[in-house]
Amino acid sequence: MITVRELLAERLKSALDAAGFSDITPEVTPTADARFGDYQANAAMILAKQRRMNPRQVAAEIIQHLAVDDISAAPEIAGAGFINFRLLPQFLADRAQEIVKDDRLGVSDSKQPRRIVVDFSSPNVAKPMHVGHIRSTIIGDTLVRIARFLGHEVIADNHIGDWGTQFGKVIYGWKHFLDREELAANPIGTLVGLYRKVNAAEETDEALKKTVREELVKLQQGDAENFAIWQETVKLSWAEFEKIYGLLDIQFDAVLGESAYNDALAPLCERLEKDGIAEISEGALCIFFRDIPELAEKPAIVRKADGGFLYATTDLATIEYRVKHWNPDAIWYVVGAPQALHFQQIFLAAQRMGVNAELKHIAFGSILGEDRKIMRTRAGESVGLDDVLNEAIERATAVVSEKNPDLPAEDRDAIARAIGLGAVKYTELSQHRMTDYVFSWEKMLSFQGNTAPYLQNAYVRIRSIFRKLETPFDPASATISVNEDAERALAIKLGQFAEILPLVLEDFRPNLLANYLYELAITFHGFYEACPVLKSGEPVRSSRLALCDLTARILRHGLGLMGIQCPERM
Ligand code: ARG
Repeated sequence: MITVRELLAERLKSALDAAGFSDITPEVTPTADARFGDYQANAAMILAKQRRMNPRQVAAEIIQHLAVDDISAAPEIAGAGFINFRLLPQFLADRAQEIVKDDRLGVSDSKQPRRIVVDFSSPNVAKPMHVGHIRSTIIGDTLVRIARFLGHEVIADNHIGDWGTQFGKVIYGWKHFLDREELAANPIGTLVGLYRKVNAAEETDEALKKTVREELVKLQQGDAENFAIWQETVKLSWAEFEKIYGLLDIQFDAVLGESAYNDALAPLCERLEKDGIAEISEGALCIFFRDIPELAEKPAIVRKADGGFLYATTDLATIEYRVKHWNPDAIWYVVGAPQALHFQQIFLAAQRMGVNAELKHIAFGSILGEDRKIMRTRAGESVGLDDVLNEAIERATAVVSEKNPDLPAEDRDAIARAIGLGAVKYTELSQHRMTDYVFSWEKMLSFQGNTAPYLQNAYVRIRSIFRKLETPFDPASATISVNEDAERALAIKLGQFAEILPLVLEDFRPNLLANYLYELAITFHGFYEACPVLKSGEPVRSSRLALCDLTARILRHGLGLMGIQCPERM
């Protein structure tokens, strides 16, 4: 279904062509203030600036050629030359009617479907998945869901950190200090404990440092015992990660950790050298970016002087693998902002290797504790994701029990999960990804304001209207009319679901969807206060019921695209 934005932009384009202004592609956007109509275009201002003309005059000329009387009241010129549109009640009613009947809620498939690899979550083995990974996991998952809904083919790839220098320490610790019982009870905690213990001991013990390094080299050379230990740590860590993914309802199409690329590293380096993409500098194989001023002094090292490979080497091998096996149009990396330099380097290197896929680093900021510093536990360690999620469910259980003490325990637990996990996800997704946000339980679990519980509650309240009906209601059979201001505002908002989703992917901003849903809920409450639903006579009653139902469907689907469930009651 074409959106109002697209429809108006099309009509505007024809008018511009007819008026002899064919060189611009006009943009139509919703107005921020209903006094200036519902949508506006700034084409006249752009044209006037280019041609040194009076913008209001240009606008008047465009309007003469503009045929929109089936959509909008006569367009008006406002301010410095905006063209404003006020949608007709019948047009809004017809559209709402169409969206009600549409399984996709008015959202079209992308006209340019692409194949996209999304690299996200990517925790490290033998290290806890910390709240920093939560951002990648939640943002990545919602981008996957939205891209799929818009008709793109998505390969969700978890590039876990299952190879690296930490394994020298872990293997040494395993051989000398492992407590099997402790391992069974708390696998990741035990592995991290081994790592920390050896790491600390190494600092004052040069001989130990050497032994630890030898364990790593043995692993890299395929020593059977070390390899078996490594395998077991990967298996144990993965089992823990899977619990978290299960809780969060997150799936991957591929889990290809760093270790999957081991055999590709040496031949890749040889090729890079042979092709003149990399060169030896002080014994190390490096890719220089001398033409880029800020990188002139910052080569990417792909092979150390001692022959070891690095993070960048693995990432270049990974790109080659993805291109060869999946031939994607784009690869999106959902990874924290501190890795910006790394991605800038490997993207440039990949270009030189002839990779055409669009490569994007989708960066994000940090999560802060209520003291506004990077979130840590009292012991100064980074907070484990599983602890956060369990605490969220616990706190939500308390909230639900208080609000609704009569719920059977089973329902209460399911609702508390939806609310607790929804709150954590929504807090993440309602922020601009680059902002550092403060993790506040009280704020995220509040039923007021821009929170998941507020939106879930809006959904529940709408559903409760339908539970009051004596006979089942079929929205598709209602004839929708849009007359009151509050009805207009709601009908316009409902149509904008289809406009928001593509914008989310343009700049990877799930917060646009969150804000939209929040505004939709507020608009709905305005409508529900101003327009009686059950007490109205027919056909208005059915029309309003259909608008209620559509609002609930969009809330539910929109939250679903963020991986958040809507309980039927709470
Ligand atoms: N394991 C890395 C970390 O925790 C993130 C990996 C991101 N993906 C990639 N292809 N480099 O920092």
